[in-house]
Amino acid sequence: MAERSPGASGEAAGPDDVRGALRAHGYLADEGLATVVFLALALRRPLLLEGEAGVGKTEVAKVLARWRGSELLRVQCYEGIDVSQAVYEWDYARQLLHLRAAEALAEGHGGPALATVEDELYSERFLVRRPLLAAIAAPVDQPSPVLLIDEVDRADDEFEAFLLEVLSDYSVTVPELGTFHAVVPPVVVITSNRTRDVADALKRRCLYHWVEHPDFEREVEIVTVRAPEVVPVLARQVAAAVERIRTLGLYKPPGVAETIDWAQALAALGVRELDEASVAATLGAAVKYKEDAERVREAGIAALARAAVERAGVERAGVERAGVERAGVERTGVERTG
Ligand SMILES: Nc1ncnc2c1ncn2[C@@H]1O[C@H](COP(=O)(O)OP(=O)(O)OP(=O)(O)O)[C@@H](O)[C@H]1O
Ligand SMILES: [Mg+2]
Repeated sequence: MAERSPGASGEAAGPDDVRGALRAHGYLADEGLATVVFLALALRRPLLLEGEAGVGKTEVAKVLARWRGSELLRVQCYEGIDVSQAVYEWDYARQLLHLRAAEALAEGHGGPALATVEDELYSERFLVRRPLLAAIAAPVDQPSPVLLIDEVDRADDEFEAFLLEVLSDYSVTVPELGTFHAVVPPVVVITSNRTRDVADALKRRCLYHWVEHPDFEREVEIVTVRAPEVVPVLARQVAAAVERIRTLGLYKPPGVAETIDWAQALAALGVRELDEASVAATLGAAVKYKEDAERVREAGIAALARAAVERAGVERAGVERAGVERAGVERTGVERTG
């Protein structure tokens, strides 16, 4: 598909622009994802990406920051995460030092009054801005930052409720200082592996997209872009093998990250074409649970390698045939108009 050249700093005229820009920064998005990213940028709405592990959710935020030349501010969620890790905290060590210095001065020759020292202690000087506050209070003369709230399903409900509050009006209140309000809202990407459902209220604030595993051709392309040292034939065979493994109903089917790792592992061993021995020796790069590995072995490693080689070959022949046919049509077109 023809793609227009991407804007340098994150302006996009439509989904195709977004797709081109993401591609230029090493991320191959399908039409659905490119559309929702475009809308999130155009409407300034947070983007909630759900999908299985390793399908490329987190990478969307990273690549958006690279494309826009803006800062990536990341909140890695976990059970028990609270305001001090995500929004702000006071630098106690420096506050204490400041207090000691003020006390020493006071002992010597009547230093600053206690009230003044207290005010100073809770000034911006001692405020540590964590990613959420940094995103809200970002300098206006720079591209607005990309705020990544990663794996929100790991945080608890209270944190989610707090997040909803922040994302509703893009403001954060620090009781001692007042309210910070974003002049330009940050670009917000929230990811979830769906270990539990994200609250409806938060979903309502966001544009939503379920990130699927890429189809075969796109996965081949991703391997080619991310691991250029892997020869094309091997890239196709690995993508075909992974596609097949994903149909086995594993506890943790391999994601794109595993496909890339696996192809790189094989290439590092000097493998140029998949066979039973090379699959058996490197399966751990793609399948990370003992039970899952057993499942793949039960289904037959030799059969897997054979099927992958065949699928990669047939698909390649198909693509080449389609290419020849397309070229034929184009030539015919030229002849007619000429
Ligand atoms: N569409 C894509 N184009 C290019 N690279 C991709 C794509 N999808 C995934 N990748 C690659 O796969 C790796 C894993 O992606 P990422 O970490 O974003 O997955 P994830 O969905 O966030 O996984 P997890 O749920 O485990 O955090 C990335 O480092 C990136 O190299
Ligand atoms: Mg991730």
